[in-house]
Amino acid sequence: MQTPSGHPVESTSAQRVVVLVSGLGSNLAALLAAHEDGSYGARVVGVVTDNPAAGALDLARDAGVASVVVSTKDFEDRAAWNVGLAEAVAVFQPDLVVLAGFMRILAPTFVRRFEGRIINTHPALLPSFPGAHGVRDALAHGVKVTGCTVHVVDDGVDTGPIIAQAAVPVLEDDDEPTLHERVKVAERALLVETVGRIARDGLFLAGRQAVIGR
Ligand code: GAR
Repeated sequence: MQTPSGHPVESTSAQRVVVLVSGLGSNLAALLAAHEDGSYGARVVGVVTDNPAAGALDLARDAGVASVVVSTKDFEDRAAWNVGLAEAVAVFQPDLVVLAGFMRILAPTFVRRFEGRIINTHPALLPSFPGAHGVRDALAHGVKVTGCTVHVVDDGVDTGPIIAQAAVPVLEDDDEPTLHERVKVAERALLVETVGRIARDGLFLAGRQAVIGR
């Protein structure tokens, strides 16, 4: 991991990961399974959700990981919610913030606070099909190959530097659920691998180039 000044943080213990999630949390479950291995290099120390009914809350409880709900309903406006969300995340002192099915757009104030330390997993091969419906949009476009992307979060919607990608075939009889499930199998493996590599070897950014290790 690198600090905002660009220097890797020396640490003998696991890197602290906070996962932001809105729904089911199968990507979170994969990270929670991975961190059981002491050599993984990363540990999920907190789960933060905007959704009080998120299945991810059960996963966190079962894993003995602290969780917090930061609902938009409890804040006057989106700016205040972003501040509340950032405060909730900061409490865990994260080295890395992972958006794993987090379906809200983060304000620049949030992104600045954890600059270069927020990554997102997206269910398409960016820069194609950004946004909330990456699988549906790929299917509607008729692509024969889609996939998943792990990228650094910047102020845009799914526009930040790409860290890792995996391709997934689109089959003739696919609908959105079947294709999404195939993408998610690849996505979970890619996210687990990428978070572990970042934790162990560091993430370095130079313009649009995101590189793990040196
Ligand atoms: C994942 O496929 C993730 O890429 C997607 O939501 C799913 C969450 O699944 N995120 C987005 O579409 C964000 N634009 P999960 O809750 O089972 O991990």
